[in-house]
Amino acid sequence: MNTKSTPLLDHLVHHADTDPISLHVPGHKNGKLPKGIYQEYYETIMRLDQTELPGFDDLHAPSGVIQQAEKLTAEHYQTGASMFLVGGSTVGNLAMLSAFCRPSVPVIVQRDVHQSIIHGLEMIGVEVVFVSPTFDEQTGLSKGVSLHTLVSAIDAYKEAEVIVLSSPSYFGNVGEIQRVVQYAKMNDKRVLVDEAHGAHLHSDEQFPLSSLEAGADVVVQSAHKTLPALTMGAYLHVKNKDDEQRIRPWLRRFQSSSPSYVIMASLDAARAYVAEVRSNEPAKRLWAFHDELKARLPKDTYVPNEDPLKLVLRAPEPYTGLQWEKVLQKQQIYVELSNHDYVLLFLPLLLEDEEAIDLKTRIVDAYAGQRVMIKKRQLPHYPAYTRATIEKAFLVDYEVELCSMETSAGKVIAENIVPYPPGIPLFIAGETIDVRRLHYLSEWMAQGGKLQNEEHVRNGQVLVRKSR
Ligand SMILES: Cc1ncc(COP(=O)(O)O)c(C=O)c1O
Repeated sequence: MNTKSTPLLDHLVHHADTDPISLHVPGHKNGKLPKGIYQEYYETIMRLDQTELPGFDDLHAPSGVIQQAEKLTAEHYQTGASMFLVGGSTVGNLAMLSAFCRPSVPVIVQRDVHQSIIHGLEMIGVEVVFVSPTFDEQTGLSKGVSLHTLVSAIDAYKEAEVIVLSSPSYFGNVGEIQRVVQYAKMNDKRVLVDEAHGAHLHSDEQFPLSSLEAGADVVVQSAHKTLPALTMGAYLHVKNKDDEQRIRPWLRRFQSSSPSYVIMASLDAARAYVAEVRSNEPAKRLWAFHDELKARLPKDTYVPNEDPLKLVLRAPEPYTGLQWEKVLQKQQIYVELSNHDYVLLFLPLLLEDEEAIDLKTRIVDAYAGQRVMIKKRQLPHYPAYTRATIEKAFLVDYEVELCSMETSAGKVIAENIVPYPPGIPLFIAGETIDVRRLHYLSEWMAQGGKLQNEEHVRNGQVLVRKSR
């Protein structure tokens, strides 16, 4: 089949064009309900939102148009099998961990993973060996796990069967992922990668190599983050077809029994798009955009990274990144995230010439007359490695108490503290609170950074284990 075809989307559009009378779920009846001032929008948005009618296939046991669309995805990404996810990479991460981690065997896990990985490990009740990523000296950004770190972790924990990694980082760095995956495979480990930010890597050789190409066994990608797919649309790829049978039962447990056809169709369309976009050399264009912008922005504004889809810029004086994000919003520029020093922009995969010029002008104008300084910052480094059983942060079987952050250093934290975005836990329940990360947290909150936590954390308290 032609990789540019879109069997699932075609089927939905064809059905909608027959002006069907809906006497089934969903309750909006092809967008005809509710009536009112937004009716036009409802109809446009909901027209393709269908259910498992005859011929529409079933995500949980695909044998028709969904199977065809998934097969095309597997062909494009050159995998053993590819599965559609309607609950984001979150659900893919939960499924891949459940399929391959056993409670009795330690799992080696990159420490700066997204909270969905931590939640999965927590639910399984697995013992974890956390390995710290390395941080770039200049930028302070994570470069993933180094080969050196993985070699010593595998040496120290020979019994580990599974390695869990996250790559590329939110800021677009892959570090030594290729060598790390290859080394793990040489040592007969299962490699599971949260590649939420990497669904586009396959579309041009000038993007960093994806962990799938490096040989990982299971790779989860948020198509919605970097491809034109609807929010929550994601892919789960397995290298060996046989592993599909280990994953599917878990997807049946974690995914809705009424998966969104609109999301699934957008995954079909996104794959067709990314297959087509290849011939336009998207990475080459993006790198050219980076180069031109770097030349026109104040010195030290541009922060180098490895994935040109992501653009990292330093905030000018006297702003923090979080404050600078708000300034940009006033000029209708909405970035993906910001932190103490940086703003992070996700660029369109295919940057058309006119769009590039407009975007460049807006960014250059925003920085006109500004001065940028590089600041040395204390980063929230993690211990080289720690062995821990992840505690159920919300179901503790020991006594806990609230403690003021100022006096909490040295105590054992009983909840995850999650700056959001990026959703990477700064503290994980069971870890010992250290001054460095506390300092980072206070700065983050003082500057208006968001947390996905209960109110007490925002009020300067943390839940800790009660000392006996
Ligand atoms: C590295 C990483 N993994 C997983 C996720 C979860 O992805 P999703 O939002 O598709 O569920 C995110 C979301 O930001 C992420 O950044």
